[in-house]
Amino acid sequence: MPPAATRRYVSSILTSDFEKRLKEVESKMAKDIRVQKTFEALFALEDIREIFRGTLPTGLNETEEQEFHKKVSALKKIINELESGKGNPEISKLAGTLPIRDREEPFINIQPIQAAGKLTVEARKALIAYGDGYSTCDSCKKPFRLDKITKPGIADFHSELAEFLNLDEARVVPGARRGFQAVASSLLEKGDIAIVSSLSHYTEFLSVENAGGIVKEVPLNEKNIITAEATAEKIEAVIRETGKTPKIVMIDHFDYQLANEHDIKDISKVSHQYDIPLLYNGAYTVGVMPVDGKDLGADFVIGSGHKSMASAAPSGVLATTEEWAPVVFRTTQMKGDLTDRRFGIKEVEMLGCTLMGGTLFSMMASFPAVKERVKHWDEEVDKSNYLIERLLSISGSKVLSEYPRKHALSKIDTTDSFDKVAKNHPKRGYYLSDELSKRGIVGLFPGATKAWKLSTYGLSTDRVKYLGDSLVEIAEKYGLEVR
Ligand SMILES: Cc1ncc(COP(=O)(O)O)c(C=O)c1O
Repeated sequence: MPPAATRRYVSSILTSDFEKRLKEVESKMAKDIRVQKTFEALFALEDIREIFRGTLPTGLNETEEQEFHKKVSALKKIINELESGKGNPEISKLAGTLPIRDREEPFINIQPIQAAGKLTVEARKALIAYGDGYSTCDSCKKPFRLDKITKPGIADFHSELAEFLNLDEARVVPGARRGFQAVASSLLEKGDIAIVSSLSHYTEFLSVENAGGIVKEVPLNEKNIITAEATAEKIEAVIRETGKTPKIVMIDHFDYQLANEHDIKDISKVSHQYDIPLLYNGAYTVGVMPVDGKDLGADFVIGSGHKSMASAAPSGVLATTEEWAPVVFRTTQMKGDLTDRRFGIKEVEMLGCTLMGGTLFSMMASFPAVKERVKHWDEEVDKSNYLIERLLSISGSKVLSEYPRKHALSKIDTTDSFDKVAKNHPKRGYYLSDELSKRGIVGLFPGATKAWKLSTYGLSTDRVKYLGDSLVEIAEKYGLEVR
């Protein structure tokens, strides 16, 4: 949908009464004690749970019963405070050191890497229930491998993941980076060449380096896009200069710097013409938009659970084809020289099992919501375009990412708008993050007023509108022209 239509679409479903809402927010933002009390109630319930975890299977003894009633009374007091909205914070740190992270409750968080990794409520519940170390392993039986566990349905989840990405096999991995590592270590020998994008993520570099390989970068075109032609030219140049055909092409569908979309489907065709497999980096796509591995021509699809699948860190997925599964998911062949021990079907690159406990279960608990949300990617893109339009209405502001936006993450340049104010402001660049946080908006790198990134992913239209209104309001406050 083009930007003007996007604006009309979003405006049509929103009512604008910004001043009133800002006052409401400011009064509530003298921090709503109910957020703190919600945390305290959750912690109090954990204290109660702890009694059950320490007692005999026969039940609570007298002292424990007393303790139980004491804790329930404490909980009731917290619930009363929660209900009335009155009271003082009683807990500020966990274990004496960890502050309570209440960032997602009272604030709009525009931090670009956090947006799509926020947990669903089911995932948060899964963390409560499965936080214990090896909680995945209650019913693990022969052949003792994570992806074979049927209770709870971890094996089915693996099949569903492969189906979701339309590839043949999938494994969960501790972050997209571990997926790159598994592939690079399976395909590259010392001195082998991996083609990467000029906007590739550092973890792709490191995975190649770790395997002893060498990266060669495909240049961007004038629109900051990696094209199939440029990839073909780079492959040709590498073959000419080194006499070696690269072993893999690794391309980010949307890159982390600008979140521009790269020509992945045509790039995979080019790679295959040279018989080079294609690794699709879906850190910014898997879990937010539909990804069809076969249609894209990907040999490997890698996603990040904590970046884009509403899962706890570190989590991710590595999916592949029937052809490559035996390579990247190869099983151990090693035998102990003294004991003759072998470890059967443990997969070398996975080091046996990967995600244990709450991390995997958070991923599984979010999965139904993730499967649903990818169908609504267009709406996320519309919100992104709406916000960028509001920003561009502030004279001097630019968008560095391709525009109209095709992603919720964008890089913008406010050197000729907000940064002009910073030059004369006593707080310098910090005034902008301060002004935003006064309005309940966090996630902007403190002090940034030149080039910065933000994401609107997952924000309600109301929140996106509020964000746009806030930026415009700050601009007006400091005398910037708003068109
Ligand atoms: C484009 C891209 N690829 C890969 C990664 C690494 O993902 P993970 O943290 O899941 O290993 C990131 C993380 O920031 C990224 O932005």
